[in-house]
Order: sequence, then C-alpha cells, then structure tokens
Amino acid sequence: MTNPLNNPAPRPDLDEELLRRLFQGPLVLEQVAHDLLLPPEQVRQSLQELSRLGYQITTFPHRGIILQHSPDILIADETRARLPENIFARQLRIFKETRSTNDLVFQAGVQGAPEGFCVLAESQTHGRGRNGRCWQTTAGKGLYLSLLFRPSWPPERAACLTYLTSVAFCRAAARLTGIRCGIKWPNDVLYQNKKIAGILTEARSQASRLEFAVVGIGINVHQQPGDFPEDLRARALSLGMAGAAANLRRAELLAVLLEETLRLYRAPWEDLRTEWKSLCLSTGQPLRIQCGRRIVEGQMIDIEENGHLVLRLPDGKIEVINSGEIL
Ligand code: BTN
Repeated sequence: MTNPLNNPAPRPDLDEELLRRLFQGPLVLEQVAHDLLLPPEQVRQSLQELSRLGYQITTFPHRGIILQHSPDILIADETRARLPENIFARQLRIFKETRSTNDLVFQAGVQGAPEGFCVLAESQTHGRGRNGRCWQTTAGKGLYLSLLFRPSWPPERAACLTYLTSVAFCRAAARLTGIRCGIKWPNDVLYQNKKIAGILTEARSQASRLEFAVVGIGINVHQQPGDFPEDLRARALSLGMAGAAANLRRAELLAVLLEETLRLYRAPWEDLRTEWKSLCLSTGQPLRIQCGRRIVEGQMIDIEENGHLVLRLPDGKIEVINSGEIL
C-alpha cells in the first residue's frame, strides 16, 4: 500500500500561487515574475502546465491573463490556493487510486501524522462504509476523502466528528447548490430520503484518551442512476440527480467542505449540536433502532454531550444509545 508519509511534503508551489492570483482576477506575467523573484519564462511554463491540465487561461492584450474556465479535476494546488490557511488543505494528498483513504489516513495517524492530514482518491479498490459494508467509488464522479483529527476528547466523543462532518457537508451542499440535505442518524446524509453522502469515523484510543480519529466521507456528486450498483439504485442519489448544476466542480465542493469542517471544528460544540439537531431527520420521530442483536423502539429526543442518542421509550423511560442503525 502507498505510504503517504513517504511522499515529499508539499512545497509552496508556483502553480498554487498562480491559481490563487488567477482566482482573484487578471494578472500580468511580468508583474508576477517580479513579485515572486522568478524568471518570466518559469511563470510562463507554469501557466502552460495549468493549461495542459485543462485550466483555460487566455492572454488579452490590454486586460492581462485571465482564467476563463476551470476543469472538474482534483489537484492539491487548487485546494491550497483556495484555502491557504486551512490545516486540511495544507496537508492534502490526492491519489488516483488507493485501497481506502481511511486506511491511508489511519496508517498515517499511527505513524504520528499531524492533525489535518488529509487523503483524497479518485477511486478506491476497497472503499468501505459502516458495519463492514463496501462503499463503491465512481472515478471522476464523486468525492472520497479522509481527514485526521487529534482532539483532546474522551474516546466516546469520536462520534461527534461524524456529526460535525455531516453538518459541514450539508452546509457546503446548500452554499454551492441550494440543495438542503438532511441527516439520518448516525452517519448518512439524505435528500428526499435517498443517500447522497456517507461518513465513516474510525478512532484509536489510549486508555481514556482519544489518540486520533479518521473521518472518511464519500459524496455522490455527478453520478447518474446507472453508476450505482443495481441494489442501491432506489436508495442512492447524487447532487447532480438532486438538481445541482452540471458545471458543479468537485474542487469547489471540496474547498467549501474543508472550510466548513474547520469552521465547525473551531466552533462551540453546543452550536454544532443545535445545528445537527435541526438537520437531523430523526429528531422527534418514532424510531426502530438495531443495537447489536436488540431492536429498540422509541422517540428520538436529543443527542447527549458525548454524541449518544437519547430515546424516549413507549413506557416513558429514557434510553441512551451509543451505536446502532435506524431500521
Ligand atoms: C457509510 O455510509 O457507511 C460510510 C461511507 C464512507 C465512505 C468513505 S469514501 C472515503 C472513505 N474511505 C473509505 O473507505 N470509506 C470512506
């Protein structure tokens, strides 16, 4: 398996700098070369490289160099150019194919990678979901990534990172597409009762301390019904199928997702909890939950400080559930 820690650390990149400037408006080649203390030829070569990748960059005689169109590709330089201060963007590695991004980030976590380490893959050969299910990837059509968190929390709070990421995705989808998703406890993001994204949080603890947690998120972006396995077709949806514009770029979705993730990570838990409850489709609903071999029925009334679900049973008693699946 590829070891992401063996890859050289990303250097401050000319492509990144050029993209950052191009996103802001027209630029003048000689001015950029002067600012960066580089020969103009090197800047020209970097612009040509970006053009080869599909960025449509045109020089206009009086207006300068303008970025007219960006392709739907995922390159770390663009994410870093969009989010220069974001810890997830700064440590982003993008692979064409890997086993599972969660595996890579977990391995990196064991080896001491810092918080914010992030791996994205266009496709995964062994992508997985909760409860040992497999998560199928469609190259070029979805977003599949995993993030490393090292919060100083007790281990049982790891589930809160699932909530955080699902709220971040709901915010990102609403900001970029106007699509208002809902959350099905604990880890599914739905639109019109079909799954658009799933989150898998895997953690390692030492005694009473959470050593690190890996949060993997799989998002259906451009898939059409035929891209999903037949048995999932009736229950799966992509942002495109939900009405997002065909020119929605995964790179922009990624940037907004990472921005919202970091914003929520820095926000008070109470604010996140309130927002999560407002997005949760199960709040106040009667639920049947499979908890191991048991099925518990009751009305969802809250989530606790540590993320556990609070149910009111038919006899009025309260039951707290830390893990399970809504039937
Ligand atoms: C679920 O719905 O059960 C969770 C699905 C999580 C899928 C993502 S894709 C990126 C990361 N790598 C994996 O192997 N799984 C997660």
